[in-house]
Amino acid sequence: MANASGFFTPSVSSWRKRIQPQIGIYRSGLLSPDGFSSRVFCSSTIQGPEKLSSGASPSESRVPRLVSKGCKLVGCGSAAPTLKVSNDDLAKIVDTSDEWISVRTGIRNRRVLSGKDSLTTLAVEAARKALEMAQVEADDVDLVLMCTSTPEDLFGSAPQIQKALGCKRNPLAYDITAACSGFVLGLVSAACHIRGGGFQNVLVIGADSLSRYVDWTDRGTCILFGDAAGAVLVQACDSEEDGLFSFDLHSDGDGQRHLNATVKQNEMDDVVGSNGSVLGFPPRQSSYSCIQMNGKEVFRFAVQCVPQSIESALEKAGLPRSSIDWLLLHQANRRIIDAVATRLEVPPERVISNLENYGNTSAASIPLALDEAVRSGKVKAGHTIAAAGFGAGLTWGSAIVRWR
Ligand code: ACO
Repeated sequence: MANASGFFTPSVSSWRKRIQPQIGIYRSGLLSPDGFSSRVFCSSTIQGPEKLSSGASPSESRVPRLVSKGCKLVGCGSAAPTLKVSNDDLAKIVDTSDEWISVRTGIRNRRVLSGKDSLTTLAVEAARKALEMAQVEADDVDLVLMCTSTPEDLFGSAPQIQKALGCKRNPLAYDITAACSGFVLGLVSAACHIRGGGFQNVLVIGADSLSRYVDWTDRGTCILFGDAAGAVLVQACDSEEDGLFSFDLHSDGDGQRHLNATVKQNEMDDVVGSNGSVLGFPPRQSSYSCIQMNGKEVFRFAVQCVPQSIESALEKAGLPRSSIDWLLLHQANRRIIDAVATRLEVPPERVISNLENYGNTSAASIPLALDEAVRSGKVKAGHTIAAAGFGAGLTWGSAIVRWR
């Protein structure tokens, strides 16, 4: 099982074991009068030839480095399609009921792209709102990260968003594909670009339209998903003001069999060569199959791995569980959110959730819920948020961040 640094940690069969990543940017564990030290360190595993030849283990070669630049979250925004689909609406097309769906998942409604709606338009709307809140002009954005598994262009949607926002200086824009973990990965990537690459204003957008890949005749999956977009502006700041305290990221390709939407081959006549043989060229046209999911396995994976990941990130930040003002998980299932909160001893009133209204919006779910919580006045400047994403890949990860 590869983690953030590409090294190997225990496989899914040992999810219960503590998973220790080899890379992380985190505050020092030294407590200062204000609760924690403001010095920020990056720990990484160095495996150069000299280290390997000396036989040093990855953990022995861990070297702390001072990170001179910080980053903070300064604006957020979100957007959802206008078409609302209720559980009762779904009960008209598959054998289900509002009661079954709401009891098993906590979902009552979801938004679905329709007509001429586009995911790119939603992403642009969310990004504009984030820029407005941050009081940053589109021209001052120097990186756009579009976290999505459902781009409207195979080659990525981010440059189209950059163009629609009117970023005239041609800032870098690219997509990140990591399903429901995409936004957390985007946040960490933004921090790395700012700390190591000199970027100033990074737009991190989480947007997905899984409704386009759902089998609307499969009651086991179609009840779960909705479409939306959310965005956050991450800005460079002094290290003393740093607002990304730590992170913890993992993936496990072995678990992909439990959740996927793989390439399928269209029915096309085989090409016959001049000697009558069937050629393997040109290749057949491809499209993706609908989402295939083993719900029970995904459920089990989430309730085991997510609390471990958050605890690992807290440890790296040198922060106790009690420092979490808000627990903000990927909005997949009410029972997963409750189970993780219980494991971490976070009381229900400190858990952010809008799953009831939107269902599982994949990479959009964390920034969408954050945006609603900020705009409703729940999340205030200075609050500490433990955010975690999990899903297809399998991928999962968490970040401990401060709002503003
Ligand atoms: N309505 C009514 N009955 C249903 C429905 C439905 N919508 N779906 C399944 N059932 C039936 C099944 O057919 C089965 O009937 P049976 O006992 O007669 O065979 C029964 O209900 C139990 O089915 P299970 O699949 O075992 O139900 P479960 O309790 O596991 O709940 C659910 C299913 C809600 C999908 C749950 O497993 C879950 O939420 N898992 C996590 C999913 C998740 O978080 N996915 C994240 C994806 S994120 C990403 O990256 C895309």
